Amino acid sequence: KYTRQYFMPPVDCMDWAKKDHIEKAPIWCSVDLRDGNQALIVPMSLEQKLEFFKLLVRIGFKEIEVGFPAASETEYLFLRTLIEKNMIPDDVTIQVLTQAREHIIRKTFEALQGVKKAVVHVYNSTSVAQREQVFKKSKEEILKIAVDGAELLKKLTEESDGNYSFEYSPESFTGTEMEYALEVCNAVLDVWQPTPDHKVIINLPSTVEHSMPHVYASQVEYMSKNLKYRDNVIVSLHPHNDRGCGISDAEMGILAGADRIEGTLFGNGERTGNVDIVTLAMNMYSQGIDPELDFSDMPKISAEYEEYTGMHIDMRSPYSGALVFAAFSGSHQDAIAKGMKIWDEHQHTGKWTVPYLPLDPKDIGREYEADVIRINSQSGKGGIGYILEQNFGLNLPAKMREAMGYATKDVSDHMHKELKPSEIFEIFKKKFEGV
Ligand code: KIV
Ligand code: ZN
Repeated sequence: KYTRQYFMPPVDCMDWAKKDHIEKAPIWCSVDLRDGNQALIVPMSLEQKLEFFKLLVRIGFKEIEVGFPAASETEYLFLRTLIEKNMIPDDVTIQVLTQAREHIIRKTFEALQGVKKAVVHVYNSTSVAQREQVFKKSKEEILKIAVDGAELLKKLTEESDGNYSFEYSPESFTGTEMEYALEVCNAVLDVWQPTPDHKVIINLPSTVEHSMPHVYASQVEYMSKNLKYRDNVIVSLHPHNDRGCGISDAEMGILAGADRIEGTLFGNGERTGNVDIVTLAMNMYSQGIDPELDFSDMPKISAEYEEYTGMHIDMRSPYSGALVFAAFSGSHQDAIAKGMKIWDEHQHTGKWTVPYLPLDPKDIGREYEADVIRINSQSGKGGIGYILEQNFGLNLPAKMREAMGYATKDVSDHMHKELKPSEIFEIFKKKFEGV
């Protein structure tokens, strides 16, 4: 018998569900260099991390979790290199992760020496499963780990001349009783006593995604409404993607009250990954909201990401995948070609309405010719005509376009392959030789 039980949100908690879009970009924090890196088969080298850091700065991230400096030599060295080589722009805040354990916190502060400003992100696990199976500790004991960690962060900051702000994560939040998660976070906040000038971050990770997105969003809403010092607290989300709903978790979580998102490029991260910031940002963009991140050269960003991480971006990955704007089938091509004609005449209105394309691929550095109209045996006269017109300036009359449509489909069908524009032009020359 199936006996699992999960937290069930009260249904009247769902005012946010009536909103149809996100009104402004959240504060973004890239965790590529920490959560993303720790999930790679071979973690990035120092040089790769440095290049990746520069890429994140170019994209426009103002908060970047650069690692877990107490965890490995490379992590420690990477942070020291950023600081000693003065590589952190003034408008970027780096963040470092530490467990709520004394020697790890002390080592983290040692690694931070000389930094202009940083977020120190401390966590301990709060879920029923972790409390009972891993730590074998009571709720009171787990709460004390969080409070002791928060106190040590405060003490070491007061003793140093560093400009540090704080973040706390009840790790495995989604497996924690909400009332207890709130109690722990409020106890940490009581230690930190945030003010308008010294806000702190409470991060609510779906360390493991256990529920449907509206359930997570309701948990976020509950926390956001009941956290102490709420005006001085930045509520951050850190969705993972175990059920494939990381994007929805983040989007609904923002509607439900969150201010900040931690995620990675293309969703790299533990297991099924962290939430994909590229998709989140471009979803906003395609609803007319400035995501405040620059993905205007997606092909270059994708190539750099693949080079540094050794990961491969799936052909169907939203916005970045090789095939995500491609139309092979005749009816899609026909609709796109017609829509593009209208767009050409109405570009000044800024209103993008081309069928089958959620946004103008050119906005992210993709090409119509290479990325959109692609020809195989499924294609039709509209697409083939479009290729001949765009590439060779041939505006064929209807009858010729139809004949070319059949001839091209035939060749592709027999050769069992996609045809390049030059091959289509050859078919055209052969078919209409002497005409
Ligand atoms: O997924 C998670 O819970 C984390 C925490 C350390 C924030 O990565
Ligand atoms: Zn994580």
